[in-house]
Amino acid sequence: MLDRLGVTLPIVQAPMAGVSTPALAAEVSNAGGLGSIGVGATDAGGARAMIEALRAGTGRAFNVNLFVHGAAKADPVREAAWLAWLAPFFAEFGAEPPRQLRTIYRSFAEDAEMLALLLETRPAVVSLHFGLPPEGVIRALKSAGIMLWATATSLDEARRIEASGIDAIVAQGIEAGGHRGVFDPAAPDDGLGTMALTRLLVRRTRLPVIAAGGIMDGAGIAAALDLGAVAAQLGTAFIACPESAADAAYREALTGPGADHTRLTALISGRPARALANRFTALEAKAQGRLPPDYPIAYDAGKALHAAAKAKGEHGFGAQWAGQGAPLSRAMPAAELVATLARELADARG
Ligand SMILES: Cc1cc2nc3c(=O)[nH]c(=O)nc-3n(C[C@H](O)[C@H](O)[C@H](O)COP(=O)(O)O)c2cc1C
Repeated sequence: MLDRLGVTLPIVQAPMAGVSTPALAAEVSNAGGLGSIGVGATDAGGARAMIEALRAGTGRAFNVNLFVHGAAKADPVREAAWLAWLAPFFAEFGAEPPRQLRTIYRSFAEDAEMLALLLETRPAVVSLHFGLPPEGVIRALKSAGIMLWATATSLDEARRIEASGIDAIVAQGIEAGGHRGVFDPAAPDDGLGTMALTRLLVRRTRLPVIAAGGIMDGAGIAAALDLGAVAAQLGTAFIACPESAADAAYREALTGPGADHTRLTALISGRPARALANRFTALEAKAQGRLPPDYPIAYDAGKALHAAAKAKGEHGFGAQWAGQGAPLSRAMPAAELVATLARELADARG
């Protein structure tokens, strides 16, 4: 599969909406890995600009990633209750919560403009997170010669991916930073780790598997390959690269003692995601089972609270997504990081 893409290293830089940039992805693809951009948080116009910037930086294959979440159900009563609960935290920064919450991201499942853009620009790989689009969308992308990947966190999701005609599965373990790709956030979650999940999917599906979650160095990549994965997808490892869009506070938190602790929480966005432990994730103890509005409606409130806090110099309400391997993160240019990972991988494989 990687040969078909002209990718020489089994290293995928994870798509990270808001953090990965065209410059980061271009550096990774130029260094022999597969660079990715996440366009789940923007519209077709924003995605076009990112794809054009990436094409200007590399002639090699890259991956464009989309969110395929189920339609958010607006629930004014639940949203008002959530805003009322958050109000004291806003008040600490002399701010008020927004009066109303918006569905800030459109799902790719219902975004015809984004589909048209992908069919026109034809990135080598399109990867899907949170679920699968309608059959016709998958068929159209494949007919355009685009390779399709989708995230699975369980064998059941992987089977649905295989049945849909998708080309490869990203096995995302519970260790992973950022949002879990679970199809249905309300369903019970077994929280499988990267090792067990990768092995399950390699043995129980016929598709190539890309392992993701907690992989930070060449030894980790070698371990993923030993489990039968064709490549490893690393997100957290690339956040501290100068080419990422992470702000100074995020970088500081990631490379400081705080990186020793990550937490899974749905309070920030409405979907479970792993972040560095901070003031936002600590609200989990106070929420006492309170349910945030649906993703991405809750994220509108989360972003507003972060903005209010940041304006007063408090950075502890940022969505500082990171995986369990965060303490092993290294701040170095992406090309240097890929070369280091390749060297470590060669050493680990003897
Ligand atoms: C900051 C951040 C943002 C992320 N955003 C996305 C995204 O937009 N789309 C996606 O499919 N995965 C996203 N992920 C998850 C990654 O694809 C991948 O599963 C994860 O980074 C692997 O775990 P690791 O961070 O321990 O390497 C994100 C991860 C991080 C850390």
